[in-house]
Amino acid sequence: MKIAIPKERRAHEKRVAASPETVKKLVGLGAEVVVETGAGLESSISDNEFTQAGASIGGDEASVLSDADIVFKVQRPITEAEGGPDELAMMKSGTVLISQLNPTQHREQVDAYAAKGITAIAMELMPRITRAQSMDVLSSQANLAGYKAVLDAAQEFGRAFPMMMTAAGTVAPARVFVLGVGVAGLQAIATARRLGAIVTATDVRRETEEQVASLGAKFVKPKIEESGEGGGGYAKEMSEEYQRLQAELVHETLKKQDIAICTALIPGRKAPTLISEDMVKDMKPGSVIVDLAVEQGGNCPLSRPGEVVDYNGVQIVGHYNVPSRVAVDASLLYAKNLLNFITPQIDKESKQLKLDWEDETVVGTVLTRDGKVVHPLLTGEGG
Ligand code: NAI
Repeated sequence: MKIAIPKERRAHEKRVAASPETVKKLVGLGAEVVVETGAGLESSISDNEFTQAGASIGGDEASVLSDADIVFKVQRPITEAEGGPDELAMMKSGTVLISQLNPTQHREQVDAYAAKGITAIAMELMPRITRAQSMDVLSSQANLAGYKAVLDAAQEFGRAFPMMMTAAGTVAPARVFVLGVGVAGLQAIATARRLGAIVTATDVRRETEEQVASLGAKFVKPKIEESGEGGGGYAKEMSEEYQRLQAELVHETLKKQDIAICTALIPGRKAPTLISEDMVKDMKPGSVIVDLAVEQGGNCPLSRPGEVVDYNGVQIVGHYNVPSRVAVDASLLYAKNLLNFITPQIDKESKQLKLDWEDETVVGTVLTRDGKVVHPLLTGEGG
């Protein structure tokens, strides 16, 4: 059972899909692990550390991938049209590809996996069941993104976060508003609180109110009884009336804030617009908005992927791939998610991968099998 770890080739991607710890465990399970030379460097993992953990180092990507039974990646294979070497073409038929694959937005690529006989597993579709928490790549990465969003805000902010009483006068604490209190939002609240900010937050899911309070932040919500629970722990799109009242609330709240951290997402849809241009006009000069949803359409229509936009003195931050900005920890956690997923799928006797096609973690994530697209999200059978 040969597992290949190629170097990620997409722009803004510093992560790697294995760590010395996971390599050691995979070797212990009977795998032969081959890491492309330099694959871990941008996550501060040297070839030498991988070798000491039991991996061998492969010289170029094609040779690493060509005879692999399993390929671990962070992002979907790059294509020639996207400016890379055609990574899929380097894989043999029968390979199991385990990665984040963004299948609904890149459906044509899913067809290509099927045509090539690749078993493609999309980790971001992992069901949110208790047993699979340790395999949940969205959570492990969003947590770090929420943390980094606050530091990115602090970087652009011309003032301090904590209150400081000095001989020369008092520095007021920063006021931070977190919109969307899922995994990233909760970590953003905790991080902003650690830095000494006064934090307010909002979300459409009711259970978040208590979570926000437990972190010492204030919860605000529009005056309307409507639950935002969309199933599986995710949110749904809200009614027009809710959106109107929420916009009023957000507008009024923002006038008193210094920093807004936007994290609101709805699975399979464009991110909801929460901060309009009119609201930004009413924010204090020197304020900062960090839009973590920028790559899903953004919670603020003024944010631009990969840019810091200056709008009348308000800085609107839209960095690409925020988890990769904390690449070392993001890689360690991502690699662990993959290890936790694959471990129960390895047969202890034969030391071979034997995917259990009945297991919820496999059913929920497998896109293609035996030359066919099988995931209900893609075959139109629900999901
Ligand atoms: P997400 O990344 O899909 O969305 C982020 C947040 O935005 C969510 O809290 C959502 O309610 C909120 N949101 C969406 N539309 C909004 C709007 N119009 N206004 C304000 N807020 C809006 O969600 P994430 O962070 O991936 O997870 C959400 C929840 O799922 C977690 O808080 C947790 O309760 C649950 N979960 C369960 C897991 C498990 O049991 N295995 C693992 C991870 C999360």
